[in-house]
Amino acid sequence: MKELWTEKYRPEDLDGILGQHDVIEKLKTYIDRGSMPHLLFSGPLGVGKTTTALALANEIYGKDKKANFIELTRSEERGIDAIRGKVKEEAKSRTLTEKDFKLIFMDQADSLTSDAQSAFRRTMENFSDNVRFILSCSTTSKIIDPIQSRCASFRFHPLDKERTLEWIKKIEDNEDFEIDENAVNVLIRISKGDLRKLTNLLQIASSIDPEITEKEIKSALKETKTADIRGMILKAQQGNFEEVREELYDLLIEGGYDAEQVLQMIRKEVFNLPMDKDKRKKIARKIGEVDLDLSRGSKGQIHLQRLMAFFAVLSDESYR
Ligand SMILES: Nc1ncnc2c1ncn2[C@@H]1O[C@H](COP(=O)(O)OP(=O)(O)OP(=O)(O)O)[C@@H](O)[C@H]1O
Ligand SMILES: [Mg+2]
Repeated sequence: MKELWTEKYRPEDLDGILGQHDVIEKLKTYIDRGSMPHLLFSGPLGVGKTTTALALANEIYGKDKKANFIELTRSEERGIDAIRGKVKEEAKSRTLTEKDFKLIFMDQADSLTSDAQSAFRRTMENFSDNVRFILSCSTTSKIIDPIQSRCASFRFHPLDKERTLEWIKKIEDNEDFEIDENAVNVLIRISKGDLRKLTNLLQIASSIDPEITEKEIKSALKETKTADIRGMILKAQQGNFEEVREELYDLLIEGGYDAEQVLQMIRKEVFNLPMDKDKRKKIARKIGEVDLDLSRGSKGQIHLQRLMAFFAVLSDESYR
């Protein structure tokens, strides 16, 4: 497969990160000092949290990064068993260089159950000599207080228009495509500061036709629908309804899908998300209800919004 632009253009050092100025400045002081606390990164999708963690590791370890930086990304790496097993093993074992600590990066820390978080908190306490954790999440509200209080907290923001244009320019200078101004505006409007989404849309659009207009961007949007749906469900689970509404709008109005198609995509995606059986069942039942409502021809967007609200309700239940 062709190299993904999200990987190809991912900056390797902190100076390459766009925006997030305050975060980067502070991280640089840690590097200068040679010591740092545990870190908690929060912010929306595709704004540089993972990239910053990788860049930080590059700057701290250089060529020794591989031996000292561990990335926990798979969903099976975040249950309570994994926290007691793998995460603890990694945290226990000492670093292989002259550096005092190794780094463990955990993406989507807000998807840890509160039990797993409690176990994790003990791991943090017990192995602080060997390891620094970087936790990444959308919002800190689902991270238990004892973890929050052990971390320095950093908030990442969606990229503004100026930085987004800078990013598009960087890719445009290196790849064989041309994009008209209207298409750039549509791209910026659809991606709302999420550079992963933007970069993927741009790459797909350029493969459809290297003279990119609004039409290619919209075709690309259709192809990325699965990723969109997943992001939308995650946002719903976090209660970001304003954004969910916008995503639905993009799919139904900009993307040209009808409500039934969107429901099918949601149904498919639900089975790829980490979720217990009981919840899956409840959601399947809800999807069935919505399906029926849609077949009666009533307002699609409203019913889909209701379904998204249900994701939030179920998601809250696990934190009670
Ligand atoms: N601030 C940024 N500076 C430079 N590149 C960025 C920035 N934000 C996002 N990107 C680019 O977008 C892509 C995704 O970024 P990254 O993986 O860091 O996002 P994230 O914030 O970790 O998202 P998620 O919450 O979905 O994990 C990468 O290609 C990265 O280079
Ligand atoms: Mg990430």
